[in-house]
Amino acid sequence: MNIKEYLKRQAELINEKIKEYIPSGVPEKLFDAMAYSLTAGGKRIRPVLILESARAVGKEDIDDILDIAVASEFIHTYSLIHDDLPAMDDDDLRRGKPTCHKVYGEAIAILAGDGLQSYAFELISKNGSISPEKLIKVINILAHGTGIYGMVGGQAADILHEKENSFDDINFIHTHKTAKFIQSCCQIGAVLSDATCREEEALKNYGLYIGLAFQIWDDILDEIGDEKKLGKKTKKDREKNKLTYPSIYGIEKSKKIAKEYVEKAVNEIKILKNPELLQGLANYIISREV
Ligand code: IPE
Ligand code: IPE
Ligand code: MG
Ligand code: MG
Ligand code: MG
Repeated sequence: MNIKEYLKRQAELINEKIKEYIPSGVPEKLFDAMAYSLTAGGKRIRPVLILESARAVGKEDIDDILDIAVASEFIHTYSLIHDDLPAMDDDDLRRGKPTCHKVYGEAIAILAGDGLQSYAFELISKNGSISPEKLIKVINILAHGTGIYGMVGGQAADILHEKENSFDDINFIHTHKTAKFIQSCCQIGAVLSDATCREEEALKNYGLYIGLAFQIWDDILDEIGDEKKLGKKTKKDREKNKLTYPSIYGIEKSKKIAKEYVEKAVNEIKILKNPELLQGLANYIISREV
């Protein structure tokens, strides 16, 4: 199977579902801003990871967890809106379009991000098919991976390095700002498909390793990627004094490290029932141009 084609089809499915779950209300500008960023494009890797992790363990029918997959994309989109703000990475272009604050202003962009985050948890809590016990577990994993002990903590460390050189642990930054969220998606897939402890652990390790490879590759693309294809500005990290793998190890060594993480990830999930897709996805992460 061609993994790129498969991911494209999965992204289309998720896009359909996102449209179904986009909230509407007043003030319209807030809801427009959320919808603008949600529908601007994106690879939809995190929802795909939730669905594919569940499938890898043996879950066949994924219809009852599509809202949870969509919720992960709401959180990811919030993180991008905030990441692009002038006080953070100060970016004008995202997913090939002007960033949310460029179109709606900073205040509404901040609130659109806030709104997407809390609405994601509201959405999960409203799932009527999964047991309340499992939903609480899912909410806990997602909040942990994207909050102060995960993405938010990592974003803070990233900014502290950039602005005041007061943080210099690249592994902490990459693990927290990117890998923990990705890891939580894989773990959520495991929980939703009644994985054994061993299977859940394998998926958690897989998620951590591909998450690290994902951010290393993102750093590499910032240096050598094509701005048009990426839909975001390149060569920004160097300009902004970001701590990245290429800035420490150079491009070739960074590629090698990313590849090693992917190999470890592929190896971790050999014990699962259907590991092939996730293994293909891991390899795609370090060959992608977008
Ligand atoms: C970009 O994430 C931010 C990082 C964590 C590196 P993606 O590369 O998944 O962005 P989209 O969703 O495809 O736009
Ligand atoms: C972002 O890392 C990680 C997030 C949690 C959003 P980057 O700042 O490198 O992501 P891009 O390159 O802007 O997409
Ligand atoms: Mg950033
Ligand atoms: Mg950024
Ligand atoms: Mg980047």
